[in-house]
Amino acid sequence: MQFVEANGARIPQVGLGTMTLKDDICVQAVKTALEMGYRHLDTAKFYENEKAVGEGLRASSVKREDVFVTTKIRHLDLKPDDFARALDEQLKALGLSQVDLLLIHWNNKDLPLKDSIAALCKAKKDGKTKHIGVANFTVAMLEEAGKLATEPLVCNQIEVHPFINQDKVIAASKKLGMAVVAYCPNVRGKASDITPLERIGRAHGKSWAQVALRYLVQQGMIPIPRTATPAHLKENIEIFDFELSAAEMAELKKLNAANMRVVSPAWAPVWDTP
Ligand SMILES: NC(=O)c1ccc[n+]([C@@H]2O[C@H](COP(=O)([O-])OP(=O)(O)OC[C@H]3O[C@@H](n4cnc5c(N)ncnc54)[C@H](OP(=O)(O)O)[C@@H]3O)[C@@H](O)[C@H]2O)c1
Repeated sequence: MQFVEANGARIPQVGLGTMTLKDDICVQAVKTALEMGYRHLDTAKFYENEKAVGEGLRASSVKREDVFVTTKIRHLDLKPDDFARALDEQLKALGLSQVDLLLIHWNNKDLPLKDSIAALCKAKKDGKTKHIGVANFTVAMLEEAGKLATEPLVCNQIEVHPFINQDKVIAASKKLGMAVVAYCPNVRGKASDITPLERIGRAHGKSWAQVALRYLVQQGMIPIPRTATPAHLKENIEIFDFELSAAEMAELKKLNAANMRVVSPAWAPVWDTP
């Protein structure tokens, strides 16, 4: 496993996304993934699976301290008291005294960012998380958060895959020393037949999904693909033994002209334009 270092954190460069994985399917996916070599798990209160993620972690043969666990606080729980209560409940569900990374899942436009960032920093000071970060932050929000935070922000978790242009927010994250954790890295499984990913993959003996993930890894990003299918779990970590050429990277980069955003709920911010 390769790692990305950012503002004091050392993050395994591929993680297991768990959104939609529930109950025993989630327990088994986490256990199988860890035993295959994954060392990074991504969950959230919103996914209603923190208990199953914790069970999968304990069911595996991998030690807790060798796994990087991320969870997130919902936008509805960002008032300071709500934040602290939600975090305690989430740690209890996970069966952990501390997570490795705690993120604001989405900013809440109706609450001052100052208060949400203060609650996030307090969670770190209280020892409930090793590191803190944000998700779905735009350039302006990142700049404001960077000024407000009294503890280092280690990542911005955002949608990144070959079909979206996130150049501005990626540059702003890097400028602040933050890693970019890429969600929907496999475009929810829908990228294979509409793109050159499959053709490029064939040239390397890899699948379209491995090309999509490798494209992110070669730019220093951290993809967190989600699957419970053992063959896909295996594919998604076997991405460190081949290299896309500069020409292949350039061809993939051109696909971002589609600027296809998969995730944009009602509470999303006004996104940066390309
Ligand atoms: N911060 C946020 O707001 C936010 C938003 C969205 C997601 N996330 C996080 O990011 C994770 C990943 O994003 P996502 O779940 O939305 O989308 P994703 O990982 O891009 O796509 C998941 C889909 O890809 C398919 N897939 C995975 N590996 C594959 C492979 N090797 N070959 C073919 N198909 C493959 C899966 O199908 P099978 O099940 O059939 O393998 C599944 O249908 C989430 O699970 C969650 O942890 C965070």
